[in-house]
Amino acid sequence: MTTTQPLDNAPNAEASIIDGKAFAEILRKNVAVGARAFREKRGRAPGLAVVLVGSDPASQVYVKTKMKKALESGIDSFPHLLESDTSEADLLNLIDKLNNDRYVHGILVQLPLPAHIDESKVIAAINPAKDVDGFHPINVGLLGQGKAKLIPCTPLGCLMMLKDQIGDLSGKKAVIVGRSNIVGKPMASLLLQENCTVTIVHSRTRDLITECRQADILVVAIGRAEFIDARAIKPGAVVIDVGINRVEKSGVSVLVGDVDFDSAKDIAAAMTPVPGGVGPMTVACLMKNTLAAAEAIESNTAARY
Ligand code: GUN
Repeated sequence: MTTTQPLDNAPNAEASIIDGKAFAEILRKNVAVGARAFREKRGRAPGLAVVLVGSDPASQVYVKTKMKKALESGIDSFPHLLESDTSEADLLNLIDKLNNDRYVHGILVQLPLPAHIDESKVIAAINPAKDVDGFHPINVGLLGQGKAKLIPCTPLGCLMMLKDQIGDLSGKKAVIVGRSNIVGKPMASLLLQENCTVTIVHSRTRDLITECRQADILVVAIGRAEFIDARAIKPGAVVIDVGINRVEKSGVSVLVGDVDFDSAKDIAAAMTPVPGGVGPMTVACLMKNTLAAAEAIESNTAARY
């Protein structure tokens, strides 16, 4: 972030670090208990199909992590690793098969997809009851109405950490930096549902720093390394850093967030680290959603939309 504004927000005691890794471990253990009960009742585990098209290195790491954590949570994972030149029609055929596969309760298509595939078309083809990412237009609509059954994993993980940290969020001023469909927009819906006063700021916002400095809760998901620093943080704010950026520091490749951790920690009351904050919670929430989808699909009263 480049700014000419002076740093006039008084330094606070050092922020407490929100341990997303430990929180995620507890959540996954709870999912494992539910998954075991599901398997005992239904004779098979909850099943998650993981679809990756192409060989984007970051996506490969995410998909591998998701499958490993599924296994640890008692969830069967079914990998579909497709060549980058896979046609849209072939991908839609696979989605159709997975929609009709009784061993598959959750379908995750890792984004982004190669440019020749229409992402919206693929997401819309997923059975909404198996849409563990919560990206299908039906699930997006339900979230907007405060009636979601499957909530996008990253904002859900952020919300769980915020509630754990703060308790009741009612009346808090929340500012979200970034307006993506995956994080910014669903995060706004969730915080609104919690009775926060919500602002989304983005690349075209005038005086982004002043907006951010109003925030009791600052969620940063802009995809730019260390974009937000102390100057944009209200003393005592709780800061959630969704970014994961690989940068060179003193000739060494390191992961950093969208928040300049070292400067922000003197101003914020609490903040998530990168790595070890939001990332593990996203994966744990995917497991939570997969179990929830399996239970809903297999229960007698399952709404299949
Ligand atoms: N790419 C980046 N984040 C996500 C996510 O939460 N789900 C999927 N499917 N792809 C992603």
